[in-house]
Amino acid sequence: MKAITFVTQKGGSGKSTLCISLAVAAREAGHTVCILEMDRQATISDWLDHRTEEGPEVAQIDATQLEAVMERLRESAYDYVFIDTPGVDSAGTLAAIRAADLCIIPCRPTPADLRAFKPTLAAIYRLEKKFAFVLNQTPPRSYRIRDAADGLAVLGILPDVNIVARTDHQDAIGLGQGVTEFNPKGQAAGEVRRLWSWIERRMQAGRTARRTVKHAEAA
Ligand SMILES: Nc1ncnc2c1ncn2[C@@H]1O[C@H](COP(=O)(O)OP(=O)(O)OP(=O)(O)O)[C@@H](O)[C@H]1O
Ligand SMILES: [Mg+2]
Repeated sequence: MKAITFVTQKGGSGKSTLCISLAVAAREAGHTVCILEMDRQATISDWLDHRTEEGPEVAQIDATQLEAVMERLRESAYDYVFIDTPGVDSAGTLAAIRAADLCIIPCRPTPADLRAFKPTLAAIYRLEKKFAFVLNQTPPRSYRIRDAADGLAVLGILPDVNIVARTDHQDAIGLGQGVTEFNPKGQAAGEVRRLWSWIERRMQAGRTARRTVKHAEAA
C-alpha cells in the first residue's frame, strides 16, 4: 500500500479535485484505492453523495485517527490510499505529510499560489518526503505557464503534463464522477490519465526531497 497526500495551504488550488479524478483514474488503471478525507469542508464526501458508480471508498478522519487508520490500511488490500488535506495549516496537514509516500502539491500559475506552498514545502523537506508539484487550472497557453514551470522545476519535480482549467473538472465533481468518467475522450480526461501514469512512475523512482533540497538552496 502506498499513500499519496494532496497538500498545500493555498485554498482552491485543486487538492480535492485532483484527488478525486486521480483516484478514479487509478481505479480505471486497475488499482484499488481508498480516500481519507481530512478536510471538514467535506468536498469528497459531498462528491460521494452524488456518486452512482462504484468505489473508491471514502473515510472522513481527523489528525488523531490518522496513524491508527494507516496502520490498519497497511494490512489491507488497497494499492493506494489518497489523503486530501484542508487548505489551512493544521496538525492534520503535518500528519498527512508524515504518512505519505508521495506528496502532490497542486499549484495555479499565479504569484499567490507560487508563494503559498512554501510552508508546505518546508515541512516536506523536513520530513524528507518525495513530492511533486502539479500545475493546475492553467490557461491552455500562456507565458505564465512557462514562467511558473521554470520556477517550480528548480524547487522540485514537475510532471510533463499540466492540468488546464476546463469545465469538465467542475461538471464531473458535481455529478459524483472523475473527469475520465464524465468525458472519457475529453482533453481533461487525457491530462488526468497522463498525470496518473506519471505519478505511478514517480512512485517507483527513488529520489527524495533530501536530494532536491540542494536545488532549492542553490536557487
Ligand atoms: N483543472 C481545473 N479546471 C477547472 N476548475 C478546476 C480545476 N481544478 C479545480 N477546479 C475548481 O476550483 C475550485 C477549487 O478546487 P478544489 O476544491 O479542488 O481546491 P482545494 O485545493 O481542494 O481547495 P480547499 O483548500 O478549499 O480544500 C473548485 O470549484 C474546482 O471545481
Ligand atoms: Mg479541498
